[in-house]
Amino acid sequence: MKEKIQLLQNQIKELKISNITELEQFRIQFLGTKGIIKDLYTDFKSVPNEEKKEIGQLVNNLREIAEDLFSSHKELFESAENEGAKIDFSRPGEVFSIGSHHPISLVRAEIIDVFSKIGYAVSDGPEIEDDWHNFSALNFPPEHPARDMQDTFFIEKGENEMALRTHTSSVQVRVMENQKPPIRTISPGRVYRNEAISARAHCFFHQVEGLYIDKDVSFADLKQTLLHFAKEIFGEKAQIRLRPSYFPFTEPSAEVDVSCSICNAKGCNVCKNTGWLEILGCGMVDPNVLEACGIDSTIYSGFAFGMGIERITQLKYKVNDLRLYSENDIRFINQFKSSL
Ligand code: PHE
Repeated sequence: MKEKIQLLQNQIKELKISNITELEQFRIQFLGTKGIIKDLYTDFKSVPNEEKKEIGQLVNNLREIAEDLFSSHKELFESAENEGAKIDFSRPGEVFSIGSHHPISLVRAEIIDVFSKIGYAVSDGPEIEDDWHNFSALNFPPEHPARDMQDTFFIEKGENEMALRTHTSSVQVRVMENQKPPIRTISPGRVYRNEAISARAHCFFHQVEGLYIDKDVSFADLKQTLLHFAKEIFGEKAQIRLRPSYFPFTEPSAEVDVSCSICNAKGCNVCKNTGWLEILGCGMVDPNVLEACGIDSTIYSGFAFGMGIERITQLKYKVNDLRLYSENDIRFINQFKSSL
């Protein structure tokens, strides 16, 4: 029996238990109610009396070794299991639902970025304007159709006439009244016009208007500034062309087309096969406007331009219905997730 116990002791020492299942097998085999050690105690009964002391100690010793081995491994596996519960490196990562910027915000930020880099400040003004800032200071004749009820949302008629601004040129009047040249500023903002809502027109939209006033500012400066802008927004290949136009606040005035970036100016349905897309209005600030804002038009000259952000966004992202911008359809907005 001594040899048997010795053999078992060696066997236990050489055991490699590497997981909880193996540990349970070990427990059943050695310490279970029908296990090896239980059998040894049964055998022990038939050991001659004179050997009982010695053999009894050996069996007890073996039981202790087995129990120690069992409890130390149990502890080890349990603590490993707890650690594992804290950090499970094999678990798939959680998907964060990131928001998206509205395309108008994206393009507005992009336009601001282009002009900030060439020294333009950003100016802000109220959306509810008086007649002076929206029309009179900008050289609108009293009977100009833009003042008409059909174009403008009036809040108050009569002496204290107040209306929702129809363009952000009103902000530029405020800047000219409050700052001395040189002035280089852009005014992004929401504007309102009394139009029936359709795919191509809306009762509100967004503009960025620019103003540059200094000594010796020329039409050539305006052209180069706008060409730079077009290349930054539509790519290095972009070209512009200017067509004569009319605005009360600029003289001469022009409308600016950019070469169609959708068909590379070859002609498509967006540019109606002309290869050109109209993107903004511009011109040299009318001396009457400078004078109305307290700037000496014999010393200073300047240019101004204005564009609709929706229009630029439409061309960049091929959105063909203006209503999409304000319907808050999450499926529309979600498409701009990674655009910034
Ligand atoms: N204010 C004009 C508009 O709303 C745009 C414009 C700005 C044109 C400056 C010329 C110069 O349409």
